[in-house]
Amino acid sequence: MIDTHAHIYADQFKEDIAEVIERSQEAGLTRIYMPNIDHTSIDAMLELELQYPDFCIATMGLHPCSVNSDFEKELYIVEEWLSKRDFVAIGEMGTDLYWDKTFVDQQVEAFNVQVEWAKKYKRPIIIHCRESLDMTIDLVEKLKDDDLTGVFHCFNGSVEQANRISALDFHIGLGGVSTFKNAGMDKVIPSLDMDHVVLETDSPYLAPVPHRGKRNEPAYVQLVAQKVADYRETSIEEIIATTTNNANKLFQFNA
Ligand code: NI
Repeated sequence: MIDTHAHIYADQFKEDIAEVIERSQEAGLTRIYMPNIDHTSIDAMLELELQYPDFCIATMGLHPCSVNSDFEKELYIVEEWLSKRDFVAIGEMGTDLYWDKTFVDQQVEAFNVQVEWAKKYKRPIIIHCRESLDMTIDLVEKLKDDDLTGVFHCFNGSVEQANRISALDFHIGLGGVSTFKNAGMDKVIPSLDMDHVVLETDSPYLAPVPHRGKRNEPAYVQLVAQKVADYRETSIEEIIATTTNNANKLFQFNA
């Protein structure tokens, strides 16, 4: 089982990261992908990667919530890191109109630039969008070429939006929201094209039921897997096998 999206380098894990990793391994996880946020998260992220090689994997990008008037400086730091060493993916990047719409143009500009880097380095993109799913799918449709792939992380859209994403050969990241009663994912998940689905937690945020509202951690990805299996009336083993295979393909990892 793979957690394709976890910010376990965050301060919330400072006290007990060893136990968190141990619990994730006991739960059957084989890899955790850690999307970067901005210049403030890089050191802790790379340190964790060094501490758990081949298990905690860093990606490099600029989160839309960190796109402000300083975003060119932030992008420069990302660009430098991408030129210095290999990263398995570009992200997390995207658009977010939930908190603040002031920098939407800059978010789009940062998106375009990071897609250029994804094309240059032939790496997938990890996309965050909130209150902006249609707009972001439009963007990807415009920028898509034969090589560009990626994942719309924390998906909570409609079947129609999911179909547009699959048609782009992009993936859908299912996390804790899939287990929330009021999210309506029970109507969406049975119709998903499972060849384009990966699992994630988005730790420390969005913990799945029954931990909703508390700190999330990678071991809980099994709760998401179980919920997806329930909605699709299949076994958790089948969901884990399919989504692990998808994640390995997405991140070009030959298990
Ligand atoms: Ni994230």
